[in-house]
Amino acid sequence: MLTNSVKTLSQKNVLLNGEWKENKDGKRITLSSPSTAEEIGSIPALSENEVDKAVESANTAQKEWKNTALHERKQLLYHWADNLVDNKEEIGYMIMQEVAKKKSSAIDEVVRTADLIRHTAEEGCRITGDLLTGDSYNGGSPSKIAQVNRVPLGVVLAIAPFNYPVNLSASKIAPALMMGNGVVFKPATQGSLSGIMMIEQLEKAGLPAGLVNITTGRGSEIGDALVTHPGINQISFTGGSETGIRMAQKASMVPMVLELGGKDPAIVLEDADLDKTAKEITAGAFSYSGQRCTAIKRVLVKEEAADELVGKIREKAEELKIGQPEENADITPLINEKSADYVQGLIDDAIDKGAKVITGDDKNGSLLAPTLLDEVTSKMRIAWEEPFGPVLPVIRVKTKEEAIEIANKSEYGLQASVFTQDIDSAHQIADQLEVGSVQLNGKTSRGPDHFPFLGVKQSGQGVQGVRYSLLSLSREKVKVFNG
Ligand code: NAP
Ligand code: G3H
Repeated sequence: MLTNSVKTLSQKNVLLNGEWKENKDGKRITLSSPSTAEEIGSIPALSENEVDKAVESANTAQKEWKNTALHERKQLLYHWADNLVDNKEEIGYMIMQEVAKKKSSAIDEVVRTADLIRHTAEEGCRITGDLLTGDSYNGGSPSKIAQVNRVPLGVVLAIAPFNYPVNLSASKIAPALMMGNGVVFKPATQGSLSGIMMIEQLEKAGLPAGLVNITTGRGSEIGDALVTHPGINQISFTGGSETGIRMAQKASMVPMVLELGGKDPAIVLEDADLDKTAKEITAGAFSYSGQRCTAIKRVLVKEEAADELVGKIREKAEELKIGQPEENADITPLINEKSADYVQGLIDDAIDKGAKVITGDDKNGSLLAPTLLDEVTSKMRIAWEEPFGPVLPVIRVKTKEEAIEIANKSEYGLQASVFTQDIDSAHQIADQLEVGSVQLNGKTSRGPDHFPFLGVKQSGQGVQGVRYSLLSLSREKVKVFNG
């Protein structure tokens, strides 16, 4: 069982051209657990030459893979999903150690990923082409026929963030494979061990040699070589806005799907069911210690409801268990001290400028108590910056128009929540919010994984979600019959 595996160092290698290999120069990155600071393993730091090899190998293997039947691809994905479920404890345990996600959520991530992979396999079989006749326009004729097929793009570069090291990697790799592409997978450095374990299960499921290649190493060192590589035909990236925007500037003429940061607001009107609202907001803001792109990152509440809502969120936040991921604590150490210091910096700035601490503001290393700040104003950094930690600012507003204005002033546009019992107001506000999705009377969140998921402004470009990912990882190819 797993109980003893915590002390075993996981020295992983990478899958390159169908073989598990160490890198040539032997340079490795040592990884430690964010919660215990103990060393948990190491990964190779690849060189640019090895990046070249990864792209070349994906490219060669893809030439055969693109001709495989859909049912063959579907079988591979089903087998992969089954293997992940069979190994959910081991992989979940590694996620828990590597990114300090509470144990139950880490195992759930693996199961959620298996569901996503199966759904991708099914939906991939339903992506069909089109047939158009040319008689509707000048210059056309009934005998001119366009056959529109969907074809793979070639080699997809999948770059994932640390916070869902398995789910947000597979959500790119599975649709890429289903549509006939080869893959170069760059996991987040802190997240690579879990990512590699996930690919081990794909390989055991019968992955053709060379089709998926892993490139571990710091993004700051091998990122440019990957992103600007002429053999890459699509980039699917999830991570911070700064990283994504820089990447988009470098990768010219390569299609990209970017899922980036967020500053999701919860707008609360005076007639909202405040018990339900407080429950949703607390879960939305503090699960996985706020390290979710879709975490609720600010509350914009009508003054009339503010005192009561703040009291209710405080009660719920104080019920959250603070501790270690092994104990299934709700609030666990952040990914590193630097992130924790950044979050504390935002809290300190807000307090200096007059925000009221309702609960929290207690830091022990990288473990921060859930912090609720009231009377936050637009002069404070926390009103605009993405903390990626357990802090929730409350901004009191006089009108719903003011709430919409503040919500839209953000550079981000991922999701938003609106809490009210007035269906007309809910629709009216939702229609005016500049975001990818609006949740009515519910917390912001990506799933279920077949819903379209997208951000606007600095929160991203393109759409993910099972069917949408399958479409973005393939393209139209048109054959015209001139009868
Ligand atoms: P990050 O620092 O931007 O890293 C994301 C990935 O990019 C990692 O694999 C990283 O590798 C790699 N990377 C870094 N610099 C690179 C470069 N120059 N070229 C190519 N790749 C590079 O983000 P993170 O800290 O892992 O995740 C937190 C951020 O992601 C938050 O802002 C969050 O909102 C956002 N996020 C968004 C979504 C969404 O769907 N919208 C989902 C999850 C997270 P290394 O680890 O080696 O640096
Ligand atoms: O961190 C960003 C993820 O896409 C959020 O997914 O809403 O299911 O936690 P989630």
